[in-house]
Amino acid sequence: MTAPVARIDLQDKVAIVTGSSRGIGEAIAHTYATAGAKVVLASRKRDQLERVQADIEKNGGTATVMPCHTGDPEQVEGLVKDAVAHYGKVDVLVNNAATNPYFGPMLDVQWAAWDKTFEVNLKGVFAATRAVAKHLLDRGAPGSIINMSSILGVRAGRLQGVYSMTKTAMISMTKTLAVELGPNGIRVNAICPGFIRTAFASALVNDEGISQLLVGKTPLGRIGDPVDIAGLALYLASDASRFVTGAAYVADGGITLE
Ligand SMILES: NC(=O)c1ccc[n+]([C@@H]2O[C@H](COP(=O)([O-])OP(=O)(O)OC[C@H]3O[C@@H](n4cnc5c(N)ncnc54)[C@H](OP(=O)(O)O)[C@@H]3O)[C@@H](O)[C@H]2O)c1
Repeated sequence: MTAPVARIDLQDKVAIVTGSSRGIGEAIAHTYATAGAKVVLASRKRDQLERVQADIEKNGGTATVMPCHTGDPEQVEGLVKDAVAHYGKVDVLVNNAATNPYFGPMLDVQWAAWDKTFEVNLKGVFAATRAVAKHLLDRGAPGSIINMSSILGVRAGRLQGVYSMTKTAMISMTKTLAVELGPNGIRVNAICPGFIRTAFASALVNDEGISQLLVGKTPLGRIGDPVDIAGLALYLASDASRFVTGAAYVADGGITLE
C-alpha cells in the first residue's frame, strides 16, 4: 500500500502568493511559511509586504518581498523570473490579488473600471500562471496553481457584476488549464470564498445590518476569517491533494447552500 498521508507540509517548496500584504493572502503566506515553504510576497505596497515578511521571520519562517502590480503582465513575468532567480525555483502559485473598483448596476459601469477589473483579476492572473507553468514545464517538475475566485464566481453578483464575471472566468481558466497541464503533473484549482472579514469586504462585513443578515444566512453562523481560507489553500498546495485538479472549492460557512 502507498504510504498514508502523515502530515500536510510544504517543506522544500517555493510559493508565490500575490496580494499577500493583507487579508486572505497574508493568512496564506503565514500558513505556507509555517508549513515550511519559502514564500515570495507580492503586491504593490512594499512597506506592507515588509511588515508581513518581518512577522513571518519572527516566527522562524522564510519569505522575501517582491513588489508587483499584478495587472501588468510585464511586471508579473518579471516577478516570476525574479522569484526563480532568488530561490532557484517556484512550485506553487497563489493568484490571490484582485480588485473590485465598481459597485453598482452593471448597466452603469464605466470602461475604465471594466478594464481595470479584467486586467488585475484575469490578465495578470493568466500572465502569472503562464510564466509559472512554463517554468515548471522547463524543469519537468510538478506544481500547484491556486486561483482565488469567489462565491460570486458561481452565482449572480448583484451590484458586483463585472467582478463576478472575472471570478467566473477564473474558474473556466482553472478547468481548461487543469486539462492541458495535468499530463505534466501541474495541478490547477480554484477557491471560492464566501464573506471574509478583510478590507476588500469591509463595506459589507463592517455594516452591522448587512453583517447580521449574512450571519443569519450562514449555517456556521459567522463571517469568515482570512485563516479560514488558508487551510484549504495549504491542502491544495501540498501533496495531500495530489489527485485533485480542476476543482473549485467553496469555503463560505454554507451561505450558498440555500
Ligand atoms: N474578503 C472576501 O469576502 C472575499 C470573498 C470572495 C473572494 N475574495 C477574494 O480573495 C482575494 C483576496 O481578497 P481579500 O479579501 O484578502 O482582500 P484585501 O484584504 O483587500 O487584499 C487584497 C490584496 O490584493 C493586493 N492587490 C490589490 N490590487 C493589486 C494589484 N493591482 N497588484 C498587486 N496586488 C494587488 C493588495 O495589496 P496592495 O494594496 O499592496 O497592492 C492586497 O494584498 C481576492 O481575490 C478576492 O476577490 C475575497
